[in-house]
Amino acid sequence: MTGIELKTEALTLGYGERIVIRDLSLVFSEGRMTTILGPNGCGKSTLLRALARLVRPQKGSVTLGGEDIFATDTRALARRLAILPQAPRAPEGITVADLVRRGRTPWRGLLAPWSKADADACAMALEAVGLTDQTERPLDELSGGQRQRAWIALVLAQNTPCLLLDEPTTWLDLSHQIEVLSLLRERNRRHGATVVTVLHDLNLAARFSDHLVLLGPAGLVSTGTPREVLTEDNLKTAFDLSALVMPDPVTGAPMAVPR
Ligand SMILES: Nc1ncnc2c1ncn2[C@@H]1O[C@H](COP(=O)(O)OP(=O)(O)O)[C@@H](O)[C@H]1O
Ligand SMILES: [Mg+2]
Repeated sequence: MTGIELKTEALTLGYGERIVIRDLSLVFSEGRMTTILGPNGCGKSTLLRALARLVRPQKGSVTLGGEDIFATDTRALARRLAILPQAPRAPEGITVADLVRRGRTPWRGLLAPWSKADADACAMALEAVGLTDQTERPLDELSGGQRQRAWIALVLAQNTPCLLLDEPTTWLDLSHQIEVLSLLRERNRRHGATVVTVLHDLNLAARFSDHLVLLGPAGLVSTGTPREVLTEDNLKTAFDLSALVMPDPVTGAPMAVPR
């Protein structure tokens, strides 16, 4: 599996009269890990959902591998792109195993038996998130962190060259946050998957991403490498935050420290 390029062109998004994103052109390059950052309500989730065809643009387009996602057959799109929404919902009582099996739907025929490829993909996904010994437990009995990892396993089992994840580290303690981001980066580095996440932690974003997209209350503030994007001026514009930016002593990536 190799990655695939995701691109927006002059994208305008909103709900009725309310415009949330205006005229935004971005490239999420093949095999790159990108994080979208910005204050609450600036449109991060709206943008991510539009990338997955869950919001219809008011103007502009989204293409995946050069093909307009609105012109793509649903099953074909689901084989190329998986999304973990910000607040996903599952049927009551569903077990971890059943949730993760749903990730195989795009790959299966209507009446096709469960294949070895399906079983392997689910086993690998559960292994990757460390839930192999929790598969028969109902999702709603898990801790917040375990539940979050079960959702991530669902996305991994879908085995797509493009992964979109909205705040995948919320509810996780720091070591699990790093574990999840490492896992996504592994998917990215080893399988070449194009990964787009929304995160709140600027410093983890800078550490784990090749590319950042920083949105502010008035739209795009900056896009580029963490070093280009995480500057004191940009943080002021996006978050109205006065911060000091210095190299992270562990990785050398830029690190923001609020004043
Ligand atoms: N389904 C919806 N209907 C109407 N307005 C919405 C809807 N979803 C989000 N919004 C509004 O769009 C703006 C951007 O929301 P969102 O994309 O969720 O921001 P973020 O993820 O950056 O916090 C907010 O003002 C929010 O209230
Ligand atoms: Mg959001």
